[in-house]
Amino acid sequence: MRQPYARPAGFHDLARATAHLEPPFAVIDLVALRANAADLVRRGGGKPIRVASKSVRCRSILSSVLEMPGFAGILAYTLPEALWLADEFDDIVVGYPTADRDALKQLAGDPVRAARVTLMIDSVDHLDYIESATGPLEPGTLRICIDLDASLELLDGLVHLGAYRSPIREAAAAVALAEAVQARPGFRLVGLMAYEGQIAGVGDNAPGSVVRRTMVRAMQRTSRAELANRRAAIVSAVREVAPLEFVNGGGTGSLETTSAEDAITETAAGSGLYGPALFDTYRNFQPRPAAFFVLPVVRRPGPGIATVLGGGWIASGPAGKDRLPTPSWPTGLTLTAAEGAGEVQTPLVGAAANGLSIGSRVWFRHTKAGELCEHVDTLHLAEGPTLTTTTPTYRGTLPPLPLAHPAPAPGVSSDACDAACRGSSDACYQACRDSSDPSDQFAARHRTLGDRPLASVRL
Ligand SMILES: Cc1ncc(COP(=O)(O)O)c(C=O)c1O
Repeated sequence: MRQPYARPAGFHDLARATAHLEPPFAVIDLVALRANAADLVRRGGGKPIRVASKSVRCRSILSSVLEMPGFAGILAYTLPEALWLADEFDDIVVGYPTADRDALKQLAGDPVRAARVTLMIDSVDHLDYIESATGPLEPGTLRICIDLDASLELLDGLVHLGAYRSPIREAAAAVALAEAVQARPGFRLVGLMAYEGQIAGVGDNAPGSVVRRTMVRAMQRTSRAELANRRAAIVSAVREVAPLEFVNGGGTGSLETTSAEDAITETAAGSGLYGPALFDTYRNFQPRPAAFFVLPVVRRPGPGIATVLGGGWIASGPAGKDRLPTPSWPTGLTLTAAEGAGEVQTPLVGAAANGLSIGSRVWFRHTKAGELCEHVDTLHLAEGPTLTTTTPTYRGTLPPLPLAHPAPAPGVSSDACDAACRGSSDACYQACRDSSDPSDQFAARHRTLGDRPLASVRL
């Protein structure tokens, strides 16, 4: 197994850049991030890469990546997020269906955002649900993308390899849904998406059982061939129904093979920018670890053991050892089987522990990319030994614009308030900012959001 980031100079630089910070904190190595971005573009085979925002969760980094040649558009993960981003970005596909009625209402009432945001659906039920939230729509108001099932099914569906996402698997079903979209004047079918998680998100070179590795490789080979044929057939059939603007597929782990399919017009990727531990186990690419979190040693229970504060920054997915964070620096430290990564403390064992004392720092990698940002309000960006910027994560930027008043501001009638909100978030912002009651929660939230500076990032 490759030992990622066994590059002492890198850690010494990062340590110097962040010596004045009080842990816990999270750090992005800009040199590594830039190299990763360039490698994603190279692997994308000349087709644009839509940035998967769930794997970045930092608005200013999203912005900077999108300024690089080779990246275009955002694959967002919630509609409120997309509405929040749409004041700056003009091409946002929400990668997952939404059931957020307030956000749908706001989208439908805001022509600028409606032209910038595309909704994901995989059934007529989604269309019904959207219309029940928005009411009657002007012709062509909402942009729609259909999500296709990209999993591998064997033995007549008895074996399902891949995520459970869309029920739309074959061309006939896709065409029927495409026709249903086009038959409703308020909607416009603009795209198709099919994400092959069983290829893009599963390393084909994981340590451990040779048998398992061999099976993963065989499964991925079979799935690639099956999906390429099925995707081509679906895309060509749906193009007879609607002039598609894009066909999106793939992820960090599959860029070269997904982009090689003629039916694909763009790929999506995000994790490869931060290079989390999950992506150490692929044969065809090796992202550089670019995202870390740093915890302080708070006790030394005995020789060969150092205990850090917190540590349970666990990744989502099927619970298992591979979801635990990886102690990366100093090298040679491991988690214990009995305690793993704890809620308030994490013992680390190994000879390197003897070189640590109270207040020493241990550098960790998260297993996944964007989830790191759910633990911190800011990311510290380092360029070699220099800290260049500190920028808010999604969590630290405050929630997306609130979409409905919990209660109208004092002196504002419910109707006026409702009308302001539905009109546009800017009008809502104005109405709330002008609210005379300083204790009004909603107005305070807007004020905070409006006043919060977003550090810009240069990559
Ligand atoms: C729809 C979709 N596209 C692409 C991706 C790939 O994202 P990443 O490159 O961050 O792994 C994902 C990840 O879950 C996804 O859900």
